[in-house]
Amino acid sequence: MKILVTGAAGYVGCVLVPKILKSGHQVVAYDIMYYGSEGLTPAPGLQIIRADIRDSAAFSKAVKGCEAVIHLACISNDPSFELDPQLGKSINYDCFEPMVLASKAAKVKRFIYASSSSVYGVSELPDVDETHPLKPLTDYSKFKALCEEVLARHRAPGFITTIIRPATVCGYSPRTRLDLSVNILTNLAVNKRRITVFGGSQKRPNIHIDDIADLYVELLAMPEDRIDGAIFNAGYQNHTISQLAEMAKAVVEKEFPEKAPIEITTSPSDDLRSYHVSSKKITKELGFAPKRTVEDAMRDLCKAFKAGKLPDSLDNPRYFNVKVMKAAAPLPA
Ligand SMILES: NC(=O)c1ccc[n+]([C@@H]2O[C@H](COP(=O)([O-])OP(=O)(O)OC[C@H]3O[C@@H](n4cnc5c(N)ncnc54)[C@H](O)[C@@H]3O)[C@@H](O)[C@H]2O)c1
Repeated sequence: MKILVTGAAGYVGCVLVPKILKSGHQVVAYDIMYYGSEGLTPAPGLQIIRADIRDSAAFSKAVKGCEAVIHLACISNDPSFELDPQLGKSINYDCFEPMVLASKAAKVKRFIYASSSSVYGVSELPDVDETHPLKPLTDYSKFKALCEEVLARHRAPGFITTIIRPATVCGYSPRTRLDLSVNILTNLAVNKRRITVFGGSQKRPNIHIDDIADLYVELLAMPEDRIDGAIFNAGYQNHTISQLAEMAKAVVEKEFPEKAPIEITTSPSDDLRSYHVSSKKITKELGFAPKRTVEDAMRDLCKAFKAGKLPDSLDNPRYFNVKVMKAAAPLPA
């Protein structure tokens, strides 16, 4: 099969693309390259297209002959979205329906959409499963949820739609983001030897980057009736921020025994919003269970630090989406 991946040069895309190629498919990597394209290594079967998902003509051309689309492209966190809400909406929502229609017109058979587990907002319920009402707290999350509705409307025989609501992703990628909770804590532990936790009781759901990428690959081969029109949470562990900080301390002290111990300080916080999701459905219905832990993600990042793959990680804006977007502003509207 030929698979078009939007946002392929991003954090998740750069881990996903080689896995799709390895499973025997061809890939069309479609990305505007806001964060560069260095994370994508040219390979047989890989076509890299630098283009905007808002450019309908370019997208329609690129998607011709593709059997599946995995849609990752996005202004992918709250601060970057809030920097320029109009730009955010134009990318995260306005062009979504035209893209779905172009895919359908090109006879794409599967459209897999990376939504987010942040669509639930905060919940007191012990199990936030897929039946939980959507109460997005930010525009980023609101438009994630609205795209889900659009996609559901266009589901049709022969056009299979699947929505994944991933937890926060963690671990190393050739285009690593260090603005995501586990990655932030690991970076601080390795390079500052000091972690400040604000509050600490807030929960954060996480999933290892190799697990979420494996899931997208598995979805390409999954029998239609198991995924058609389906929505799945995809998370592994829900830990509190204090627990994550303790884990980062333990993992990093073991990985770098020659360095000073890591100090954790806790400050009070007004923002005790806690997020957690249940991923029982995806295990029960698809047999998908994450294989890697948060500690594995931390260890992988430590290896990358040791190998010099994440230079200048506290200051270089490339690891922090909002800093790149700020530096690049104004971006093409
Ligand atoms: N990383 C996470 O923790 C996480 C959690 C839940 C959901 N998700 C979702 O998964 C997807 C991938 O996340 P990520 O962490 O890899 O994000 P990322 O920001 O690293 O990558 C997004 C990619 O989209 C591209 N892009 C942005 N606007 C574009 C446009 N107009 N046209 C073409 N390409 C464009 C960027 O250049 C970038 O390479 C996103 O949709 C995100 O919302 C991510």
